Amino acid sequence: MIDEAKIVEALKEVEDPELHRNLVELGMIEKVEITGSAVKLQVALTVPTCPMKDKIESDIVERLKRFDEVEEVQVNFTTMSPQKSQSLIESLSKGSEEKESPISQIKNVVAIASGKGGVGKSTVTANLAAALAERGRKVGVLDADVYGFSIPTLLGIKETPTVSGGRINPPEKFGIKIISIGFFVSGDTAIIWRGPLLHKAITQFIEEVEWGELDYLLIDLPPGTGDVTISIAQKLPEASVLVVTTPQRLATSVASRIGSLAEKTGLKLLGVIENMSYFLSPEGKRYDIFGRGGGQFLAGALRAPLFCQIPLEMNLRRDSDQGIPAVFSENAKKAREVFEKLASEVEVALSKG
Ligand SMILES: Nc1ncnc2c1ncn2[C@@H]1O[C@H](COP(=O)(O)OP(=O)(O)O)[C@@H](O)[C@H]1O
Ligand SMILES: [Mg+2]
Repeated sequence: MIDEAKIVEALKEVEDPELHRNLVELGMIEKVEITGSAVKLQVALTVPTCPMKDKIESDIVERLKRFDEVEEVQVNFTTMSPQKSQSLIESLSKGSEEKESPISQIKNVVAIASGKGGVGKSTVTANLAAALAERGRKVGVLDADVYGFSIPTLLGIKETPTVSGGRINPPEKFGIKIISIGFFVSGDTAIIWRGPLLHKAITQFIEEVEWGELDYLLIDLPPGTGDVTISIAQKLPEASVLVVTTPQRLATSVASRIGSLAEKTGLKLLGVIENMSYFLSPEGKRYDIFGRGGGQFLAGALRAPLFCQIPLEMNLRRDSDQGIPAVFSENAKKAREVFEKLASEVEVALSKG
């Protein structure tokens, strides 16, 4: 037999989609009536025009219908008295003071973006993170490239996160805390990430990961200007963006897309990094394999500084495949120098605000 206690217990599993507390805790369940296999509820909304009304109703129905004994669920909505909703708001805001924002201990967030894939966005993220860590900074990397996560490989990390007390503890390598979407999917399974699911995953990576105190959180974004970037901008409005490009003259549309994304989301454009800028032969002859001027052009179009030009180096690619950042290797000498300089310039640029 179903009884009121069981119904109330089940309703503790239904959350208000915006307040993220269960309906019972929020005092929204005002009446439960059971007649045979029919359950009738009176649910008080905080505001009469609650936009989440339908979602709350369908979540309640879905949960209660899981009981074999329940065949019919009827939800009637009322509105909370002003006194009750006021005291609810007070208790919620008290809760959030106690619960310190998980990102309040992160001083700077830098997202690494690019117009397209394969330009070295992840290589820059991993190596910049390592160069900052080498300078003694506390660094975290969030690999948010849902379509081509590669940070675990680039930083040679085999451990996966552990979960304790409902928090995700990121594994560390080279003193860098690392979270990758790759830790949470198995093998090479292609996942079609829908917008809401993506948003949820990104939110969890930001809010439920024990980042602790960080000087820098670097985020490897997917190429382009899609959903993930928008989610990041919503969650981390203070983030800055570094754009990676090759020297190839980009279609102006790419530049303007990133520019308008920054405008739309309010993210600050920190600067441009040109990668694969040239190749130096062992004899010291320079080859402009991918042409010339793309970085300068993009920086001009975005009215942001061009931070550096990273040459093509076979050893950088080789070390990357082995999971060794340039600053911790003797192999890719020029790249190492460029990343060390980049780290120091990024620090200066961020300290100017
Ligand atoms: N400066 C460079 N010199 C040599 N190889 C590079 C350089 N930058 C990137 N690569 C290689 O190019 C490939 C693409 O780089 P990656 O960082 O994965 O690009 P993205 O993240 O933009 O898709 C990788 O195999 C990487 O090792
Ligand atoms: Mg990548």
